[in-house]
Amino acid sequence: MDILTTPPEVRVWVSERRRRAQRIGLVPTMGCLHAGHLSLVRLARQRAEAVVLSLFVNPIQFGPGDNLTGYPRDLQGDQRLCREAGVAALFLPSAEAMYPAGHSTFVEEVWFSRGLCGDRRPGHFKGVTTIVAKLFNLVQPDVAVFGQKDAQQARVIQQMTRDLEFPVEIVLGQTVREADGLAMSSRNKLLNAAERRQALCLSRALDTAARRLAAGERETAALIAAMRQEISGAPLARVDYAEIVDNETFEPVASINRTALALLAVHVGSTRLIDNALLTPQGHGD
Ligand code: PAJ
Repeated sequence: MDILTTPPEVRVWVSERRRRAQRIGLVPTMGCLHAGHLSLVRLARQRAEAVVLSLFVNPIQFGPGDNLTGYPRDLQGDQRLCREAGVAALFLPSAEAMYPAGHSTFVEEVWFSRGLCGDRRPGHFKGVTTIVAKLFNLVQPDVAVFGQKDAQQARVIQQMTRDLEFPVEIVLGQTVREADGLAMSSRNKLLNAAERRQALCLSRALDTAARRLAAGERETAALIAAMRQEISGAPLARVDYAEIVDNETFEPVASINRTALALLAVHVGSTRLIDNALLTPQGHGD
């Protein structure tokens, strides 16, 4: 596995792979890798001969209250996992390499970035689209893989890719969960034992909504109330948002008549976790 740390190194590496007519896959991450990230590497390897995994804790997508310095890191473990997963190159830039002094250009998607995490974390998606656009320009991947775990982020990146005509196929990987249902996340490492137990309220709440829908409840107000009720059973948890939106438009819906998306952001202790699930009414395969 090659380790690249600067944009010029990436350019040389990419042109060499292109000379050999290899398809290039990109998996952008912030590291502290887990099985969710590795599932994205597998998807990328199915579609490209050479997979680049970028590992960069992108400072500009963290707001003042977001604890950038507390973001979990495990560089040695990450390198081992990447090697085992068959990553061809690990791109590990410094903040100075990605944002040298005088960097003053940003990429902003303004429709799907509204609402949900966009409202709670001002500037967050602008930071995400800026770094992902830079990575697309540097790595020039044929395919890039993102997780449905961050559903709004995935939607924003799909839109940016379309709008800016990046010749990149965006592939989404399903959310990988722990055996008990908790969505894998680098942030789970920040939870203490009691918080880890109570973090299950997110996946339980999503299951509750799916069960209520299957039992015939289509009104989202009732489904959201049921999710909030489930979360209120966990004293360390505090809902940031609980919403149900149309899966295509991301607009809130009053009643579920086609596939919708239930999204949760919940503070568990001082860690903010997100999770989501598709809600498909019976008789709808869309
Ligand atoms: P990070 O949180 O490290 O996630 C990297 C990728 O892994 C994202 O596409 C995310 O959706 C996916 N992922 C996270 N948990 C997952 C899980 N349990 N199952 C499947 N996929 C999962 O998201 C980011 O980093 C950053 O915002 C980034 C896109 C790298 C830009 O800085």
